[in-house]
Amino acid sequence: MTKVLVATVKPFAPAAVEQIENICKNAGYEFALLEKYGDQSELISAVKDTDALIVRSDKIDKSVINAADKLKIVVRAGAGYDNVDLQAATAKDVVVMNTPGQNSNAVAELALGMMVFQARNQFDGKAGTELRGKKLGIHAFGNVGRYVANIARGFGMIVYAFDPFIAKDDIENEGVKAIDSIEELYEQCQYISLHIPANEKTKKSINYNLLQSMPENAVLVNTARKEVIDEDGLLETFEKRSDFQYLSDIAPDCAEEIGSKFEGRYFFTPKKMGAQTAEANINAGIAAANQIRDFLEEGNTQFKVN
Ligand code: 3PG
Repeated sequence: MTKVLVATVKPFAPAAVEQIENICKNAGYEFALLEKYGDQSELISAVKDTDALIVRSDKIDKSVINAADKLKIVVRAGAGYDNVDLQAATAKDVVVMNTPGQNSNAVAELALGMMVFQARNQFDGKAGTELRGKKLGIHAFGNVGRYVANIARGFGMIVYAFDPFIAKDDIENEGVKAIDSIEELYEQCQYISLHIPANEKTKKSINYNLLQSMPENAVLVNTARKEVIDEDGLLETFEKRSDFQYLSDIAPDCAEEIGSKFEGRYFFTPKKMGAQTAEANINAGIAAANQIRDFLEEGNTQFKVN
C-alpha cells in the first residue's frame, strides 16, 4: 500500500491534517503523521517505508532521502524549498514539488501587520505614524509580493517593485511602479518588504550599501528568509543609523546583539509564523496531497522544482 507521511516539526492546523488524511484515504493510501519531532533521527526512521512525504520547513537532507528507499515524491507544502536537498533527491529519482501561492496571503498579512505594529511604536500607547502615503518597495514580485502590493495599496501606500524576472508591464498592470534596479528600489522607499528566495545568489545579498541608502526612518521587513541578510551589514546599519528599523519573521543569528543595543527598533517573531494560519495550512496541505495523488496516479509534474 502506498504510504504518505506528513512530517512537520511545526504542525499544520488540525483541520488541514484532517483534509490531507481524507485525500490520502480516498486515493487508497495509508496516512501517517509525525509532528513536533525533536530530533532528525525520528524523521529518518519515519521515512523508511514512505512513498510520499509532505513537509514544511523541515530539513530534508541527503540522510533523510537516502534513508527512504521507497520515496518517490517530496512536497514542500509552501513556497520556499531551500530546506530540501534537490541534488540528493534528483540523484535518487525523487520528485520535489512546492505549492506556490497557497500560503501567500497569510505571509502578506503578517508583513503588513508588522509594519502597522512598528509604525505605532509596537502599540506602546505613544503617537506613532501611519502607512498611508509612505513609499513601499517590494523586493521580488512573486505570489507574496503581489498580495503585499494589494493590501498596501488598500492602506494608501505608494507601491514600487523590483523583479528582474517579471515584465515591467505585468508589474505596472497591478497598479505598482516597476523599478529598474535593486539600488533604486532601496533609495526610493522608506519601507522595503523582502520576498526573494534563499539561494546561492541571494544569500547575504541585502547588505550595508543597500540599507544605508534607504530614506529617513527606514523599515526593512523580512518575511522571506534570514539567510538573505548580510548580518554584519545589518548590525553596521543599526549602529550608524538611529532611524533604521528591522522587522523579521524569525530572528537573525545576531538577535541577541540587536536586542541588547537597539531597543524598540526591531521585532522578531518567536518562530517563523508567516504561513501559520488555518487557511494557509489548509490551502497548502490540500494542494500538497492533491499533487501527490496526481503525480502517483497520472504522472503530473506541474509543480516539480528539481
Ligand atoms: C514558505 O516558504 O512557504 C513559508 O516560509 C512558510 O514556511 P512554513 O511552512 O515553514 O511556515
